Amino acid sequence: MQNQIQLAPLKRLSNVKTNQAEYRSVVRSIGGYLPERILTNEDLSEMVDTDDQWITERTGIKKRHIAAEGEFTSDLAVAAARVALDKAGLGPDDIDLVIVATATPDRTFPATATIVQNKLGIRRGAAFDIQAVCAGFVFALSTADNFLARGQFERALVIGAETFSRIIDWSDRGTCVLFGDGAGALVLERQTEEEAEGRGVLGAHLRSDGKFSELLYVDGGPSTTQTVGHLRMVGNQVFKHAVTKISDSVRTLASDVGLELSDVDWFVPHQANQRILDAVARNLGLPEDRVISTVASHGNTSAASVPLALSCMTGETQIKPGDLVLIEAIGGGLSWGSALMRM
Ligand code: UT7
Repeated sequence: MQNQIQLAPLKRLSNVKTNQAEYRSVVRSIGGYLPERILTNEDLSEMVDTDDQWITERTGIKKRHIAAEGEFTSDLAVAAARVALDKAGLGPDDIDLVIVATATPDRTFPATATIVQNKLGIRRGAAFDIQAVCAGFVFALSTADNFLARGQFERALVIGAETFSRIIDWSDRGTCVLFGDGAGALVLERQTEEEAEGRGVLGAHLRSDGKFSELLYVDGGPSTTQTVGHLRMVGNQVFKHAVTKISDSVRTLASDVGLELSDVDWFVPHQANQRILDAVARNLGLPEDRVISTVASHGNTSAASVPLALSCMTGETQIKPGDLVLIEAIGGGLSWGSALMRM
């Protein structure tokens, strides 16, 4: 063929989205919310054949919070968002993007984000949900970052909120001891390179592999059973995938962003199991005093776990301006990922 255009061979990219756009997405504030009711390991031992020793040794979890009757995922999200907005001194008119990461929406539709948007009195911009289960917050953060970096929106509420207590099979001791309810929210703001002075989301690595979907799923849904269904998990297999996939994701991210893991000030992992946290931190050579763990008091709050853990960083673990924060998560899909932020 004549005049054939010679294409350069495709460079194999590692799928890390690094923020080299015109704008930076800078974290303005963080908020969290936990429902009042606490369910302890002792409480659970009266419900199923388990005990505090097994739960503590295998997971590190001591208690979890459970949403009250009539308290929905959107209520948790709104409470966390209000804390974040107050801390930043912002109001509803200052937000033009609401993203809620959740696998436990109030309703099949509309998106919980639109309910949150309305409850907060936000009257402009867009609102939608992200469904990547426990990895949802990393996916939501990266999505918001892309929108802000392209200049499409100005200021986003990025929320992880869950009421997993509503999809737990409370007779299954293999899963009911693991999860809790909660929410965490970040205000992410578009800033120019000059304004940001090096702060902002530096990059994110996102992955999914649907061939593992049977390892962690809910056995119901509008299209299949027309019921909500219950969470099912092959825990020990998910455990192995979690340790290797998260470690690989973080290494890929660090190398593509061009940072050493020794530069990380705070590692805020998905709070699924203390043993997973420890194994990943060990693999990555991250010292214990830089690893944030809230799993003992929150359990696994799915998409809420990372922003909720971030919201709990006060006192000795207070994030200072300029700190490098590494987050990661894995969940149903399987979907997993990691992100680096300069605060
Ligand atoms: O956020 C989404 C990602 N999810 C995760 O990351 C969770 C990943 N998985 C895990 O955290 C762990 O696999 C579990 C905590 C779920 C389980 O720990 P494990 O060390 O992998 O235990 P196992 O599933 O291999 O079960 C060991 C034994 C079994 O008994 P047999 O077959 O050895 O007699 C279970 O029946 O522990 C038994 N068991 C329990 N015993 C007392 C399972 N659950 C319980 C329980 N209390 N609650």
